[in-house]
Amino acid sequence: MAKIRGKLGNDFCPQALFLYGNYQEDGRPHFGLFCWASYCSILDGEEECLGFMACIGEEKLTKDLIRKQGVFSANLVNQELLPLADYYGTVNGREDPHKMDRLPTVEPGQVLRVPTIVESPVSFELKVLEERHLAQGSDLFLCRVCNVMVEEAFAKGPGPFHPRLLQAAPIVTAGDARYATLDGRDLGGWGEAKARLPE
Ligand SMILES: Cc1cc2nc3c(=O)[nH]c(=O)nc-3n(C[C@H](O)[C@H](O)[C@H](O)COP(=O)(O)O)c2cc1C
Repeated sequence: MAKIRGKLGNDFCPQALFLYGNYQEDGRPHFGLFCWASYCSILDGEEECLGFMACIGEEKLTKDLIRKQGVFSANLVNQELLPLADYYGTVNGREDPHKMDRLPTVEPGQVLRVPTIVESPVSFELKVLEERHLAQGSDLFLCRVCNVMVEEAFAKGPGPFHPRLLQAAPIVTAGDARYATLDGRDLGGWGEAKARLPE
C-alpha cells in the first residue's frame, strides 16, 4: 500500500482513559482524567516487575498529590464512568475547591493508600519509582504496578481477548479530542459528556 507523509500526531493510535486517584490532605479522594499512559517492564531495586508510564502535562493538583505521596491509583474509564471522568478532566482541581463534591463509589486500595473507583472495571495501584522531566509542562512518572483490582466478572481469569474487552468496555480517545467506544462509536467531544451528570 502506498503511503503519503502525515501530520505529526496520534490520530490513528487510540489511548485508553484512566482516572488517577489520590487522597488529599483532609482525607478526601481526588481524581483527574488522563490518557498519556502505557505499560513497560521496570526494575524496582533488583526486581523486574510490571511498570506503568504516566505522562502529566502542566502543573496541576493531580501532579502535586502524586509528588507528595509517591503513590496513586489508575482506574480504567468505561461508558458508565464517562460523564464523571469528563468532568474530572475538564475541571481544574487547584482552581475549583468544589471539584470533588461529585464522587464515584470509592474504596481503599488493597496494598497502597490510594482511593480506587468501584465502578471502574480495572484499577491499578501504583508506586512512583522515578520522575523524569521531559519538557516544559511535561513530566513522566515511571511506576511499579503494585496491585490490580478487577471486577468480579473476571474472577476466573481475564478470558479471551474479544469478550474480555467487550465486558470491560474501556473508552478510548485519539488525536481529535473526542471519545469513542472500542468498536468505533462516537461518544462526543471532550467536555461534552459531563453535561449528562445529574444536577
Ligand atoms: C480526555 C482527556 C484526557 C486527558 N489526558 C491528560 C494527560 O494524559 N495528561 C495530562 O497532563 N492531562 C490530561 N488531561 C487534562 C487533565 O485531566 C486536567 O488537567 C484536569 O484538570 C486534571 O485534574 P486536576 O486539575 O484536579 O489535577 C486530559 C483531559 C481530558 C479531558
